[in-house]
Amino acid sequence: MGLKHLSGFKTETMTTHFILVGLLGLCGLSLSLECTRKLIVNMDFAGKDIITLYSPDAEHCQHLCTQYSSCVFFTFLRPDWTRDNRHFYCYLKTSPSGQPTARTPLLGVTSGFSLKPCHPDPQPCLSQVYHHVNFPGANYRTLFTADYEECQRACTRDPACQFFTFVEHVFVPGTVRYKCYLKFSWAVPRIPIITRADRTISGFSHRIQSTQYFDAACDGKLFPNTNIPGHDIEVLFAASPEHCRTYCSAHPHCTYFSYMSYAFKCCLKNNPDQMVRRAVRGITSGLPARLCQLDNDWIKKTHVGIDFPYSDIRDFPTSSVEACQRNCTDDPNCQFYSYITDKISNPARRQRCYLKRVITMPAPSKVIKLANVVSGFSLKNCYYKVIF
Ligand SMILES: *[C@@H]1O[C@H](CO)[C@@H](O)[C@H](O)[C@H]1NC(C)=O
Repeated sequence: MGLKHLSGFKTETMTTHFILVGLLGLCGLSLSLECTRKLIVNMDFAGKDIITLYSPDAEHCQHLCTQYSSCVFFTFLRPDWTRDNRHFYCYLKTSPSGQPTARTPLLGVTSGFSLKPCHPDPQPCLSQVYHHVNFPGANYRTLFTADYEECQRACTRDPACQFFTFVEHVFVPGTVRYKCYLKFSWAVPRIPIITRADRTISGFSHRIQSTQYFDAACDGKLFPNTNIPGHDIEVLFAASPEHCRTYCSAHPHCTYFSYMSYAFKCCLKNNPDQMVRRAVRGITSGLPARLCQLDNDWIKKTHVGIDFPYSDIRDFPTSSVEACQRNCTDDPNCQFYSYITDKISNPARRQRCYLKRVITMPAPSKVIKLANVVSGFSLKNCYYKVIF
């Protein structure tokens, strides 16, 4: 893919990290923080299963483990797995020691470790394509292209496209030959749940969490005390109307949104024909902004009395919420955080900073075998790396 020159950079960061690990080791950190990239073929890792996701290969599964907050190692069931039909299953696992509780030789599986200790790229380049593999669902646009390369280029060019499936010229039925399906998955971090919690303050990393840059600045459009009833396509948790607008702007089908501040609910809506607005106190509606650089001030706001529970990558004491916020911004893997103030009764949690993240890499919700189709990912993150 012509990206080989990047490996030099990787080696350098690994060396730096090796020194860092050594220092941390001296400070008596118990959990293993060694950077282990190697994939172990035909070996099963036993541990506590956290979640099972789909992946087209072991490398992708390793990235999923890296981006999943509590995952430490994984086992992937390859397409040549013969015991049953569980192909492309990616088992994310953990254990108290950070090591598999057992390693058992097993044909058709590949295991490995999370890259969290390796200073992982938050937006890895996924240049592999997969023949006779389908990524079903998640379609938002289709077109006809001469070959899968053109389909992949269409995906790379389209801001919402994360992955694609292309139907080859020998596929049956013939009517869908050359069809290119562009597919969407969330590349902006979605906070799984937002709750009210006394003595807790939450906020976001100040790093801009997007690869897209536009010259034109814009303010966007919010309609305060306005509801737009009906036409919901997805309901998410958001901390503010501006946060909700980020979700709407990322979703290719979102025509407008309504945000209910009392429940932290962000309703993404689709109705390209009309927009009926009604005056309702406590609801803010608005329009997405896809082609301009939106004001990102909302990520700098801290939310007092609000908790972002779960998805912890690490936690430690800090003197203030400002320090916690800085630690989050300094860690490329931290997307959002919660801080417990000194007013809480449990001394173990007093003034503790919890750094958090969720999966933002392209992740098909399902991966299956299908003859004469080709699937793969957008190359947006590959170009980004070459340029910078
Ligand atoms: C948090 O950031 C401070 C500097 O602002 C640094 O000294 C400290 O080591 C960081 N803590 C952790 C656990 O990363």
